[in-house]
Amino acid sequence: MTFEAVGHVYEEGDDKHDTPVEFVAPLIEAVGGFDLDPSASQSSDLAERNVTKDEDGLSTPWHGDVWLNPPYSGVSDWLEYGRDEYYRGAVDSIIALVFARTSTQWFHNHATTADLACFVEGRLSFAGSDHSAPAPSVVLVWGDAAGNPDVVEYLDSQGFLVELRDRDVGAQDRLDSFAPGVNAREIPGSSAD
Ligand SMILES: C[S@@+](CC[C@H](N)C(=O)[O-])C[C@H]1O[C@@H](n2cnc3c(N)ncnc32)[C@H](O)[C@@H]1O
Repeated sequence: MTFEAVGHVYEEGDDKHDTPVEFVAPLIEAVGGFDLDPSASQSSDLAERNVTKDEDGLSTPWHGDVWLNPPYSGVSDWLEYGRDEYYRGAVDSIIALVFARTSTQWFHNHATTADLACFVEGRLSFAGSDHSAPAPSVVLVWGDAAGNPDVVEYLDSQGFLVELRDRDVGAQDRLDSFAPGVNAREIPGSSAD
């Protein structure tokens, strides 16, 4: 696996903003290599299996430790698909890099069910871009990786790290609407553990 990502000039609305390699490399190291990047660019090589648009990561089963930096034009669909894969037990963890659009419905539906949220200090410069991103970023973590001390330590160094151990406060109503039958308190890492 190489860490070389050929980047793209970022424009608002552009789906091709590759993750800065120096930002994700410590996470790759911490999880011992991602198993899957379901929304890979043609040039990215961040996981053992990199699924590009041609193959369609939204109709591919996810597995193992997943790195997700989705096309921002469809972030809700990606978080929804990831949520379904996670709740059916198909993946060990998902680490997702998305814009911290805290006013959006998708943020409130999905970010609130994560185990960790790291609001990144400053603005990332996506690979190949001379400019910083037009919005702040947040890294969301579901599953095993949230209990990985190396992941926690790294994210803690990158911004405001929130452990959502009390997400069952208010989260049950949201879960009921999109994941009937899932008990928020029984999700690994919840405050009931
Ligand atoms: C924001 S970029 C991130 C690339 C890479 N995951 C990374 O972290 O650097 C999102 C990528 O998803 C790709 N993409 C768009 N639709 C896709 C689909 N249905 N399946 C897989 N990849 C897709 C785009 O071509 C784009 O390169």
